[in-house]
Amino acid sequence: MNTEELGNSKFLNLLFKPAGVMMQSRLRRWLMNPVKTLRGAGIQPGQTVLEVGCGTGYFTIPAAEIIGDQGCLVAMDPLLDYTKRVSKKVQSAGLKNVRVVKRDALDTGLDTASMEMVLLFGVLPFPSLPLNRLLPEMHRILKPEGSLAVWMFPVSGWVPKSILQSGLFTFVGKRNGVYNYRRC
Ligand SMILES: C[S@@+](CC[C@H](N)C(=O)[O-])C[C@H]1O[C@@H](n2cnc3c(N)ncnc32)[C@H](O)[C@@H]1O
Repeated sequence: MNTEELGNSKFLNLLFKPAGVMMQSRLRRWLMNPVKTLRGAGIQPGQTVLEVGCGTGYFTIPAAEIIGDQGCLVAMDPLLDYTKRVSKKVQSAGLKNVRVVKRDALDTGLDTASMEMVLLFGVLPFPSLPLNRLLPEMHRILKPEGSLAVWMFPVSGWVPKSILQSGLFTFVGKRNGVYNYRRC
């Protein structure tokens, strides 16, 4: 079974429900302001952005509000329950600049050099997102000089090292806990 088929599995969707509740908890909001973290990534109005592993949409709505009507956000996750929830949130917020896509980010199906920024927020390290496959795909879809923003909790030291060792991205700095890279 591939990641996309797994995303439809009733068992897996049920299993991830408690994680979804935690992702949206008041405690998280109190500890971590999603807008501040997005500002750390340097996200700008008008940008085209891919959010890998949007989950229940903790970052999706604020990111869409920052990029505004001229921007476009692709919120991607293989889990059906999560993409349904995010789609509802997007609809009730009246946002027209978000495309919720139920898909494996290792094979996004997006056009080459079509994105200005990729957000890897709360998704690394993750067994179904191996860096040796994820990074080449992110490099492919990013425009030259495009940005890769990584926020991890807890921080895994080997992730920033592996990103640099891939030779696909250069480190430009860390702000508000976000590691920022530029596509080589
Ligand atoms: C810990 S959650 C974080 C969700 C969200 N970014 C947040 O911070 O609230 C990790 C997410 O990555 C998604 N994910 C796992 N493997 C993936 C893959 N191959 N492609 C895209 N998303 C994936 C999971 O379904 C889950 O929603």
